[in-house]
Amino acid sequence: MKVLYVSAELFPLLKTGGLADVSAALPPALSALGADVRVLLPAFAALQAGVTPIGKPVPLPAGVPLAGGPEPHTPPWLHLPPGVGPTPASAGGTAPWLRAGYVSASGQPVLLLHAPGLYEQGDHPYHDAHGHAWANSAERFAWLGWAAALLGAGLDPAWKPDVVHGHDWHTGLAFAYLHALQGDTTPARTAAARAPTRGSHRARRVFTVHNLAYQGVFAPEVRTPLGLPDALFHLQGLEFHGQVSFMKAGLQYSDAITTVSPRYAREITTPEQGCGLDGVLRERQGVLHGILNGVDQAVWNPAADPQVQPGYSANDLSGKALAKARLQRELGLHDSPQSLLCGVVSRLTHQKGLHLLGPLLDDWVARGGQLAVLGSGDADTVQPLADAAQRHPGHIALHLGYDEALAHRLVAGVDVMLVPSLYEPCGLTQLYGLRYGSLPLVRAVGGLADTVTDCSLENLDDGSASGFVFHDFSSEALHAAWRRALALYRRPADWQAVQRHAMGQCFDWASAARATLAVYQPPAPADPSTGTPPAS
Ligand code: ADP
Ligand code: GLC
Repeated sequence: MKVLYVSAELFPLLKTGGLADVSAALPPALSALGADVRVLLPAFAALQAGVTPIGKPVPLPAGVPLAGGPEPHTPPWLHLPPGVGPTPASAGGTAPWLRAGYVSASGQPVLLLHAPGLYEQGDHPYHDAHGHAWANSAERFAWLGWAAALLGAGLDPAWKPDVVHGHDWHTGLAFAYLHALQGDTTPARTAAARAPTRGSHRARRVFTVHNLAYQGVFAPEVRTPLGLPDALFHLQGLEFHGQVSFMKAGLQYSDAITTVSPRYAREITTPEQGCGLDGVLRERQGVLHGILNGVDQAVWNPAADPQVQPGYSANDLSGKALAKARLQRELGLHDSPQSLLCGVVSRLTHQKGLHLLGPLLDDWVARGGQLAVLGSGDADTVQPLADAAQRHPGHIALHLGYDEALAHRLVAGVDVMLVPSLYEPCGLTQLYGLRYGSLPLVRAVGGLADTVTDCSLENLDDGSASGFVFHDFSSEALHAAWRRALALYRRPADWQAVQRHAMGQCFDWASAARATLAVYQPPAPADPSTGTPPAS
């Protein structure tokens, strides 16, 4: 099975969050099960630098203008209808091209979409140094979607994907363009119309939501330069309150939707967590799947982590005590084994709930607690943490910035990983915490609820406890969970029993890949006499 996997980020070359980790781990896990996966990415500078190109560049046809002839590079078998696809001018003046290659370090096959007018500005894929979205965000990711759609429609006769699998809003337009190029053959919508209406190649369309809150919504005027026909601009299409929504395009024009935990798959069908798209998701519930992310064992393994030497395991936790002492020294915290050291590695945004900590930290320090935060983000989350670090030197450390190596040392060195999120589609740092015996303290939402079992007395008793879970999104509820963590920490034998159980939990990519391959399979053909699929 040939899979075109489309993403804006790829660890370790370009990462702003968990999306990059997933893009680096799921394709190899799919390949291990026999899939032929190529990852399509915009040629951001960091990605170009880490990819070894092979073969010749292939010019990417632009959309055919409504008035005027076809583009010179359009292969005749693509049948591009006028008015569909971004105009040459929207690429910033240079015609984009595709180049095959492989990630120099891992050998992962990739396709880079080069558009010097779009992708060579700044280091961050989404915003400038002040946090303002790039003015050409719509064009940046429309071209990514267009490249995916053309490949899905058979641009390369030697490699026609069976599946186009896009991730997050950056790839949503791929599905709208495929719809405009090939018609709606979405099984869930039109059981009778399974055959492609144009062209002979029809890839299955799978869209994954990593975070529904980021939607890629743009003014309706972008429709002309992006070549989005009026026929797509309606309630059942990509129109969202009069605007163009890339996320909604992905939700409406895909055959199947996945998201990154079973619980989040349910939550996003509710008005509370649906970010205005819960109605669409309720309609599409029959093709919506929650598949939990995994932990990349090659990257996150306390026994073989170059940042954690000597390594440690559930059977011998002595390396963990050393990791804690080293981290305390590195961050200027008092070298005190008996202090409960909590850690955070996170984007510092409202989603992550870290503003709940502000009113608690004086009390935590008074009770002998420590806190180490590594992150970057919004001033209203950063400032209270910075103030607390200034008030409590030796007890609270804030390291602003992005530092992959420190993230490993922190996850290994802390006693507790804090993830008090408002919402959390999956969350990876609680999974890393489990793997490293750093017990997660989480709010019961999304993937956090699916992966952490609270240290209630009954769960402790039956050996299923792996962390601390609170429910209300309030400082009081977080504080109560922290008090329970502190109480357990004072019972070292019980604490270590929970650590060992946590470290034995298996959140592997092979399971996620198997579930993803099942979604890639087209549903059984309908009975032509009734138009309904056979009973299974
Ligand atoms: P999200 O994708 O919502 O940001 P996840 O928990 O899924 O949250 O993934 C976050 C990823 O980014 C993890 O791999 C985490 O270790 C990493 N990360 C976040 N902030 C930093 C930072 N400041 N330095 C290093 N790694 C970070
Ligand atoms: C998003 C979510 C996070 C998830 C990650 C990877 O960024 O916020 O919960 O773990 O994607 O799927």
